[in-house]
Amino acid sequence: MVKVAKRLEKFEYAIRDVVAVAQELEKKGKKITYLSIGDTAKYFETPEHIKKAFTKAANENFNYYVDSLGILELRKAIAESQNKEYGLNVSPEDVLITAGVSEAIEFIYAGLIEQNDEIIIPGPSYPPFSSYCLLYGGKPVEYKMDEENNWQPDIEDLRKKITDKTRSIVIISPNNPVGVLYNEKVLKEIINIAGEHDLPIISDDIYEKYVYEGSFVNTASLAKDVSVITFKGFSKTYKMTGLRLGSIIYHDPNDKLTDFKEDIKKLARIRLCANAPAQMAGIAALTGPQGHVKETVKQLKQHRDFCLERLNEIEGIECKKPEGAFYLFPKINLGNRWKDDKEFVIDFLNKKQVLFVYGSGFGKVYGPSHVRIVYLAPISTLKDAMDKLAEFMK
Ligand SMILES: Cc1ncc(COP(=O)(O)O)c(C=O)c1O
Repeated sequence: MVKVAKRLEKFEYAIRDVVAVAQELEKKGKKITYLSIGDTAKYFETPEHIKKAFTKAANENFNYYVDSLGILELRKAIAESQNKEYGLNVSPEDVLITAGVSEAIEFIYAGLIEQNDEIIIPGPSYPPFSSYCLLYGGKPVEYKMDEENNWQPDIEDLRKKITDKTRSIVIISPNNPVGVLYNEKVLKEIINIAGEHDLPIISDDIYEKYVYEGSFVNTASLAKDVSVITFKGFSKTYKMTGLRLGSIIYHDPNDKLTDFKEDIKKLARIRLCANAPAQMAGIAALTGPQGHVKETVKQLKQHRDFCLERLNEIEGIECKKPEGAFYLFPKINLGNRWKDDKEFVIDFLNKKQVLFVYGSGFGKVYGPSHVRIVYLAPISTLKDAMDKLAEFMK
């Protein structure tokens, strides 16, 4: 047996773990409805102009190693779009292209975290924000997302979680898994706390376009004296999940990240570059027609409203209204019927062949007794799943 490095012991990823259980059922001939993974490209076609740019690049043999930082034209397009949309002053030198936001998390954490350092993350939270932290020997510390306050962050709780080991505060807005759009007041308060403790903020803006009520506020645009490391994605907005493209954008008003930025470039060089044709697709995505985004958001709002109403009609289920992203995070009254949320998800999967993700997979403190439901699937599929859930709860 090959000895496995200790660092992998603490590594989990609930979203994919439950899929493994579903696949076992599939092997036995069962048909599973997956409402577990936020994969836009599975349900909404990647727009033609994006696919064309990708295939054109590949056909023209743009298949070699490109600039480790990302091709300049894409970095320019990102800087321009941020400046135009959010009134920022980003230059291409502030942008680094990654293989998805996932790699951005990995890079930034690698640069920030030393043994036992702490990262303050939303609780519950998208799992890689804690998994990568553990991988680098750090400690993820969850700040409370307050369900009673429609899942807005509890600022006093966040403040209490800061110690002399804290290295950064993470914001995910709109949020995965709870769907909340952090309001401007809350964002300003988090920025003030970061300023008081001289901490950079990590702002994962991957769902910036998926907003159904209110408007998205760019964290960096509010941070006059605080460094903000923004993650801008392509997977969700442009239905490019499998093309693996993302970016890091530095906002550094007081030049506190100068050395940090240089050292992160080393990581980019070690892995050579992000996918070259995908970068050409990324340029087309940013500079081409945006109508598809509006259309998708309009459709998803209907999905959300449909599921929300159905969920709240079921006895033992209670769900807040998420203003963004494409997830619902209802609370389940487990009673004596299920030991925990994981058992609930597996029981529902076995009995009704519909897969959700258990809430505790998004955080052991604030996630339990919940499930995460992805509402990207067509309404007919969602209706069937809601019918089955209602029967199952009865
Ligand atoms: C909050 C958040 N950040 C990052 C990612 C990963 O995105 P990417 O496909 O760009 O790696 C996801 C995917 O679900 C996510 O929900």
